[in-house]
Amino acid sequence: MASVTSLAASVNQRVADALSAALPEARDVDPLLRRSDRADFQANGMLALAKKLKGNPRELATQVVAGIPTGDSGAVIKEIEVSGPGFLNITVADEAIITTLAARAADDRLGVPYADGAGTTVIDYAQPNVAKEMHVGHLRSAVIGAAMVEILEFTGEKVIRRHHIGDWGTQFGMLIQYLIEHPHELDHKGGEVSGEEAMSNLNRLYKASRALFDSDEEFKERARRRVVDLQAGDEETLALWRRFVDESKIYFYSVFNKLDMDIHDPDVVGESGYNAMLEETCRLLEESGVAVRSEGALCVFFDDVKGPDGNPVPLIVKKTNGGYGYAATDLSAIRDRVQNLSADTLLYVVDARQSLHFKMVFETARRAGWLDDKTHAVQLAFGTVLGKDGKPFKTREGETVRLVDLLDEAIDRATAVVREKGEPIGLTEEEITGNGAQVGIGAVKYADLSTSASRDYKFDLDQMVSLNGDTSVYLQYAYARIRSIFRKAGDVAPVAHPELPLAPAERALGLHLDQFGETVAEAAASYEPHKLAAYLYGLASLFTTFYDQCPVLKAESGPDQIANRLFLCDLTARTLHQGMALLGIRTPERL
Ligand code: ARG
Repeated sequence: MASVTSLAASVNQRVADALSAALPEARDVDPLLRRSDRADFQANGMLALAKKLKGNPRELATQVVAGIPTGDSGAVIKEIEVSGPGFLNITVADEAIITTLAARAADDRLGVPYADGAGTTVIDYAQPNVAKEMHVGHLRSAVIGAAMVEILEFTGEKVIRRHHIGDWGTQFGMLIQYLIEHPHELDHKGGEVSGEEAMSNLNRLYKASRALFDSDEEFKERARRRVVDLQAGDEETLALWRRFVDESKIYFYSVFNKLDMDIHDPDVVGESGYNAMLEETCRLLEESGVAVRSEGALCVFFDDVKGPDGNPVPLIVKKTNGGYGYAATDLSAIRDRVQNLSADTLLYVVDARQSLHFKMVFETARRAGWLDDKTHAVQLAFGTVLGKDGKPFKTREGETVRLVDLLDEAIDRATAVVREKGEPIGLTEEEITGNGAQVGIGAVKYADLSTSASRDYKFDLDQMVSLNGDTSVYLQYAYARIRSIFRKAGDVAPVAHPELPLAPAERALGLHLDQFGETVAEAAASYEPHKLAAYLYGLASLFTTFYDQCPVLKAESGPDQIANRLFLCDLTARTLHQGMALLGIRTPERL
């Protein structure tokens, strides 16, 4: 494994060196290199620097240019010139492009380095609630979280997954009491129970017990006493509670499986997993004075958190009735993740509507000393999924849309698209349904990952499975097209030929391929998978242009050019495949 320095990084280094040679004060100044349309790169850093030093930016830029070796043989930079008020326009050598890409191709990781100072991140994602349907909000957390896991692991971070499922709370009193009084409600028809059957059992039981709870005062009282038994750890009650959790897990796993997502049982540590810590968490907060008693409850106050009436709204860690809520659990989870799992970053992939909760929880943990400069917590807050009408996604009857139904529909639509394209090229029925699932699930994930997480997005299946535009299907087709080129190429092998001059479309594709590592690093550092999605879309688009403009197997100047173009095809396919894998999306071989 060898990491490869990108051309952008080498060029940046050369400009920075020349800059500090020309001007000793410029030693740590960033030349501000970026891709440009006029040349390959443009550096703007001279402008602000000269202004600051009251010098002439063009003069400074000219001096920098004089200090940079250029030329055709062996130099990375082929041409560099001063332009406008003092920019540098930089063109790299064709040879340097192919040589750098060949080094990437020789490496399993495409030359992508591990991040400096990688640490341990505990990521909290894919956290549905027991005895409740999963909805699109759970989809977002699962999809974004899974992508972040892959991206972070790829940069060398140790990642510990935590699925903080909602498996505790007073509603279990009602559910358990109902099950005691209607003992066969969770029985299975026999054989292995499907996720769908498990959920429909739970749904039925939830509705029935809720109805009884709302209409029958005596049942309500029995349900309340059951909560007390549950909290006291009564064995019979706990055993029934576990049945609910297990039944729900069957359902969760079936949905995650449909989503083509690996969720491992030991990583499912729900709210109940922190019960044993709650009392101590509250004691520590009270002893240190971080939390105070207010109207019988244990509360933490914040200067900047006030209700509409101007009165402070506290974070309640222990209620007046002695019960613990969502906040006490999250604070205990922080202690566990920092102290027992040795996390230095806690990442929470949770709906933006919970941002105030996390802001208060994180601030409380800082005051208590559980979080500090070395250990920090971040919420990767995501926006709401909207229907086509731009309103929160609901069925026509105003109910939450079941996630499974959506996924099934996405798979159906995608299968139709795959069938239409695939039948003429002789795909088997098995390939059509297999690819249909990969395309449908990919479409749903990509739609989520290609917009910035903080924004709301419209769930529009027509758009998601469209072959044109920024969709996963478009990227999957680009990949499959390359695979088909290789099937046609037969024995002709991809070989890099750095000595060949490159066409503009080859250079553009090559320079973009070289940016993969930087893109992954950025997406990892800022927790923004959409940057990777945008990069991959750019890659597929540049490949399409290359494919239109540069014949591969019929390349005009003969076998070396054919081999070199195959080499570009191969690296494109590998980069697409790796990038899509980081987003949790498959790339079928034939489409
Ligand atoms: N189960 C919660 C929900 O469905 C999400 C849990 C988020 N994680 C946490 N540590 N609070 O909204």
